[in-house]
Amino acid sequence: MLFWRVKPLDKILETAEKKSLKRQLGAFQLTMLGIGAVIGTGIFVLTAEAGQKAGPGMMIAFVIAATVCALAALAYAELASMVPVSGSAYTYTYGVFGEIIAWVVGWALALEYGVGASVVSVGWSGYMNGLLAHSDLFGLVAPGALALPEALRAGPFAGGSFNLLAFLISFAVTVLLIIGTSKSAKVNAILVAIKIAALAMFVVIALPAVKSTNFEPFLPGGWGSPLGGVGVLGAAASIFFAYVGFDAVSTAAEETKNPNRNIPIGLIGSLAICTIFYLLVGYSAAGSVGAQPVLGVNGMPLDPGSDAMAAACAGSEALVCSKEPLAHVLRMIGFPTLGNWIGIAAILALPSVILMMMFGQTRIFFTMSRDGLLPEALSRVHPRFHTPHVITIITGIVVAVCSAFFPVGKLADTSNSGTLLAFAMVAIGVMILRKQQPNRPRPFRTPLVWLVCPLAVLGCLLLFVNLTMTAKLVFVIWAAIGLVVYRLYGYRRSQMAPDHKTLPPAPHLEPHPTFHEGPDPGP
Ligand code: ALA
Repeated sequence: MLFWRVKPLDKILETAEKKSLKRQLGAFQLTMLGIGAVIGTGIFVLTAEAGQKAGPGMMIAFVIAATVCALAALAYAELASMVPVSGSAYTYTYGVFGEIIAWVVGWALALEYGVGASVVSVGWSGYMNGLLAHSDLFGLVAPGALALPEALRAGPFAGGSFNLLAFLISFAVTVLLIIGTSKSAKVNAILVAIKIAALAMFVVIALPAVKSTNFEPFLPGGWGSPLGGVGVLGAAASIFFAYVGFDAVSTAAEETKNPNRNIPIGLIGSLAICTIFYLLVGYSAAGSVGAQPVLGVNGMPLDPGSDAMAAACAGSEALVCSKEPLAHVLRMIGFPTLGNWIGIAAILALPSVILMMMFGQTRIFFTMSRDGLLPEALSRVHPRFHTPHVITIITGIVVAVCSAFFPVGKLADTSNSGTLLAFAMVAIGVMILRKQQPNRPRPFRTPLVWLVCPLAVLGCLLLFVNLTMTAKLVFVIWAAIGLVVYRLYGYRRSQMAPDHKTLPPAPHLEPHPTFHEGPDPGP
């Protein structure tokens, strides 16, 4: 079954949307693009989750997750420069492993992007709720007067009933995607500046408050457990989410000047900058107010996103209980106004990360539908807006419902399960293509490929094993559903099936929201 219905790479390149894009992106823009997609709920919110699993040792978790991402990024860069078309890991695997594995990867990417959009929506709601609860609207109302009732501030596993704001922001982003948004590279640069400024301000304020006693014990959750979900490795598996998104750089290969030089700079540069910021933020947060986990009766850290954790956190000021940890730290160390400002920065900047994630999800299913693996109706394009409205509406409903009901950490782990599979497949694909097609032009070659790619696969495996049991179970169930759908539908309807019916050429779509530089040039 492996290597079955392999789509030749030349055919992929030929049938890819004829975008004839101008090669205009340089190393700087690519790095900004990467940072814009990467900094989001991971650092702004999941820092609390990482603290609950690893305590101050979460800093090691940041380094482990960054290392796995850097290895995967080097593999991504090679495939992206060889096959610079949309669809990313799904398209690459179609050309290397064939249809079934491509299907599984595409299906897993839906988990990455779709559930990832929910993660960022829930993260955004944490900061918005915090701001509403702490702001006096420049003296116009009493502090707290704007706060929503507790039941509407979080989902049922996080001390509430329905996360209203997460639901609403997902809905708003869905509408934006349907009417077709064109967030220019300039807007992206402004949002990146806001995020960097907010994190830098956080470090400058919190760093002087660091006390060495706050780092003891350093590893209260240990290194991990064979079942996953705890300790430094459990935290690394969760905080991995904070780095996801750098692959946006690889999907811009077609629009990059001198991709051989600029793609790796963009990928590695954005990862390196984010890692430095994450370490400084993690150190300042844990060192200034402490990041010790809330322990259960057995003396072990409680599971974040569980009823027991929600109960233990009711009324608690612990960092690991906060839904807006960076704002919380600044308030705790005596800077409430700056805490509100960091909240405003997160509120302004996170929606663009939700947008990138939902955009990714719609384009993956769109590409799979064009390949005949999902019903043609999903790739229907709106006559006026030129956007795939059907799949966008379906995605929006799922994202909104998930974000209203599920806790941020559980969603992040589930999203990571899909991403880790895709990353591992890309690394394996690079090695197979090096053997199968050694002479195919490679504008970028992964350095030390026989070391980097196996380590990338092992790193993904290590993080996958350390996800929570729930996330691993959801992944297996999702993959099983996917295989049934494939057998019942895609297997017969595929463009690669012997009696397939050829679809008309791909319609013109709105361009990627971040790469778009000016008025739409039209089809
Ligand atoms: N890395 C992105 C975030 O943390 C997805 O929100």
